[in-house]
Amino acid sequence: MEGFKTLILLQLVYLCGCMDQLHIVYEWKEIDYEFPSPEARKQAIDSKSFIPENNIPMGLEIYEDKLFITVPRWKSGVPASLNYINLKDNSTTSPKLIPYPSWAAHSTDMDGKPPEIISPFRIRADRCGRLWVLDNGKIGNLESNVTKYPPSIIVYDLKTDNLLRKYVFPDDQVKEDSGFANIAVEDNDCENTYAYAGDLGKPAVVVYSWEKNESWRITHHYFHPDPLACDFSVKGYNFSWTDAIFGLALSGPNPDNFSTLYFHPMASYDEFAVSTEYLRNQSLAENNFNAFKLLGSRGPNAQSSASFVDQKTGVLFYSLVNLNAVACWKTSNKEYLMKNQGRIYMNDETMVYPTDIKVDFKDNLWILSNRMPIWMYGSLDNAEVNFRIFSAPVVDAISHTACDITPRSDILDKFVNKIKNATNSIVAKINPNSGSATISPLSVLCVLLLSWIITFIV
Ligand SMILES: *[C@@H]1O[C@H](CO)[C@@H](O)[C@H](O)[C@H]1NC(C)=O
Ligand SMILES: *[C@@H]1O[C@H](CO)[C@@H](O)[C@H](O)[C@H]1NC(C)=O
Ligand SMILES: *[C@@H]1O[C@H](CO)[C@@H](O)[C@H](O)[C@H]1NC(C)=O
Ligand SMILES: *[C@@H]1O[C@H](CO)[C@@H](O)[C@H](O)[C@H]1NC(C)=O
Ligand SMILES: *[C@@H]1O[C@H](CO)[C@@H](O)[C@H](O)[C@H]1NC(C)=O
Ligand SMILES: *[C@@H]1O[C@H](CO)[C@@H](O)[C@H](O)[C@H]1NC(C)=O
Ligand SMILES: *[C@@H]1O[C@H](CO)[C@@H](O)[C@H](O)[C@H]1NC(C)=O
Repeated sequence: MEGFKTLILLQLVYLCGCMDQLHIVYEWKEIDYEFPSPEARKQAIDSKSFIPENNIPMGLEIYEDKLFITVPRWKSGVPASLNYINLKDNSTTSPKLIPYPSWAAHSTDMDGKPPEIISPFRIRADRCGRLWVLDNGKIGNLESNVTKYPPSIIVYDLKTDNLLRKYVFPDDQVKEDSGFANIAVEDNDCENTYAYAGDLGKPAVVVYSWEKNESWRITHHYFHPDPLACDFSVKGYNFSWTDAIFGLALSGPNPDNFSTLYFHPMASYDEFAVSTEYLRNQSLAENNFNAFKLLGSRGPNAQSSASFVDQKTGVLFYSLVNLNAVACWKTSNKEYLMKNQGRIYMNDETMVYPTDIKVDFKDNLWILSNRMPIWMYGSLDNAEVNFRIFSAPVVDAISHTACDITPRSDILDKFVNKIKNATNSIVAKINPNSGSATISPLSVLCVLLLSWIITFIV
């Protein structure tokens, strides 16, 4: 019922025609790669080292002219799991992916040495010019033949594309069921940088200190899946997922110089937060379980995968996978309530499974949708567009939503004026000499709608 209410609220605002400001920048029916030559591509297809339908884009990141895209090796036939496209090349809206940093980093040696990069899901470019790649390390986990390498964090210098570091997680921090898919990087200080990697299989966060070149594993019951939130329904596919901690979004530095990590399990309706002061010190985290806070609920049916905080506006963006939508919440709000969450974009065709969200260093919001449940439980139709990348300046994306950063008094003035004008026009219609009142149903609806919006905002 409450979930239904959320939908109605979101739908009503939609009538205003002032939301859904994102536009589609890239779209693909199927993923293809920039092979060294047409012969190399043909050979890859013949040898099954490239099986197009097994390639699904999962994560995105933007740095200067590069838009990075990960393609996990869930199934065989993925030639390169970390790639980019050149944002300056506007010759096509379905560009071929270029392996990053090179083809060599993705190929197995003659002597059987595994590739430098195995299977990343999500990545992060920090403000210090480093690309942090969280490598899940598993090949073929949706097929019968799984090959497991230890998960790792691989860091590249984005200016030179050189490998800076590959940090393999110590054995005691990787469990039998571990799965590392999401990473957040606290880059307030380029030397004393911390990376937070979520373990969705065996609930935990592995914290890595760049300065110490060391990691540790933090556990908390808020990282666990909610057994009452494991049912999903996307485009007619019903399934049950028990994924634990998933969305990881870092605020900018607080006055104490620590950030706030906003997080939620995939199987959950709730949002949580903790200061990185506790994550940075294992014993501090273990001795202060109360430092982890429940913020509130998104409402039934509102499970979320990826999330991201835009540090300039302080707006938290998050996907709503069952609703084919992306929503937002201003972190300056005291409470995480349904009424102060806004809708950024919702579409049952183009936004099926929003899988990653980022804001680049030029204040643009980027979203990738990939229809993953259909790919996983059925099959994608390669005559249709299946993968889309959306973008818009953050200020446009949040304008006229509950996350709008226009001062509240300005918004109120605007609405009060509109109401006044609408009332005037009704008065004008009631007044005419004819005597009989002719009120346009549209203007009545408009007044009702606007007064409702005012209640909603105030
Ligand atoms: C592509 O970019 C070039 C230079 O940036 C510009 O001159 C050209 O008009 C663009 N073409 C399209 C189709 O947008
Ligand atoms: C399973 O993987 C191993 C190592 O990659 C490979 O040698 C073997 O042929 C694979 N088996 C099947 C059935 O695909
Ligand atoms: C970081 O630690 C790992 C072992 O945990 C070691 O192999 C690696 O060389 C270290 N890297 C640096 C840059 O110190
Ligand atoms: C799938 O789930 C939806 C929503 O929970 C429900 O309405 C529908 O009946 C379910 N379909 C099947 C085939 O179980
Ligand atoms: C936060 O960092 C700044 C710059 O490094 C420093 O000047 C300030 O004293 C720090 N504040 C606290 C509370 O540590
Ligand atoms: C972690 O916090 C404890 C207090 O709980 C403190 O004694 C210890 O020095 C801290 N460790 C580090 C590395 O800061
Ligand atoms: C209300 O009407 C006045 C003049 O009729 C106009 O200048 C103003 O822009 C209108 N305000 C809004 C919010 O539509």
